Amino acid sequence: MKILGILASHQEHGLNAQILDEVLKNVDEGVETETIYLENYDITPHKYHEKNPVLDELADKMAESDVWVFAAPTYFRELSGVLKNFFDCMRPKLVYFKENGDTIPGKFKNKHYLSISSCYVSTTENFLTGVTDEAFKTIDRVMSAAGVIKTGEIVLPGTFGMKKVPYNKKKLCKKYAKKISIRKRKDDSTVKRYIQLFFMIAIMALITMGIQVPLSPWISGNFWLNYASFTVIFFVLLGCILHFVTFVKHRRR
Ligand SMILES: Cc1cc2nc3c(=O)[nH]c(=O)nc-3n(C[C@H](O)[C@H](O)[C@H](O)COP(=O)(O)O)c2cc1C
Repeated sequence: MKILGILASHQEHGLNAQILDEVLKNVDEGVETETIYLENYDITPHKYHEKNPVLDELADKMAESDVWVFAAPTYFRELSGVLKNFFDCMRPKLVYFKENGDTIPGKFKNKHYLSISSCYVSTTENFLTGVTDEAFKTIDRVMSAAGVIKTGEIVLPGTFGMKKVPYNKKKLCKKYAKKISIRKRKDDSTVKRYIQLFFMIAIMALITMGIQVPLSPWISGNFWLNYASFTVIFFVLLGCILHFVTFVKHRRR
């Protein structure tokens, strides 16, 4: 089992480097780790019929690792250029091309990744305006095309003037270090998602029927009124839950 840290910051010993280091030093015993600092590599695109030893070396390191940890600060509300350039140049190795130009996951399919990013703006501003969103989304988009499975993300807002990673984020690093130390085969969250869906529906149905109780003088005995009120209440609850799950819960802070 091997975990590869990929540091893509202008600063070799900055906050992203510290978070990455905190994750890697807390992995389980026996798990091998390695960190590569992308600024040390001259990463250029693949040219037809020409060897690209830098990309080959990096691809070999990725191939021999089970989990990749990307640590890249947010620059101009985007992913740092060095990581974006790395992804762009690596594209032929991350995905295969079909005859019609579509892409399918390449040889790294079913590996796992963890993303780390940071920004100057405060936790509240990042929560409200999503300054780090694009950085994470770009990593997710590329990894999804490559069939690589997400294990989680660590975000550190409010880095202006910050020298050391705060205690609560160090705790989060330890949590993820344990999580990525366990070898996983495929995306094993499918069963978990179905169980969550089951309980979500069960609870919503219960609340809907609870709300219908005081309405019973008007709706009981009338199948269509019962049905219509159930559908409307269930729909409103579903809308609220979906809004919470997709917008509020996933805001980064
Ligand atoms: C070129 C550049 C662009 C940046 N753009 C933003 C930005 O749009 N929003 C923000 O909050 N911070 C921005 N920052 C601040 C970085 O996100 C911050 O310096 C980062 O947390 C430093 O991470 P490091 O210590 O690993 O280098 C920018 C920094 C640089 C160098």
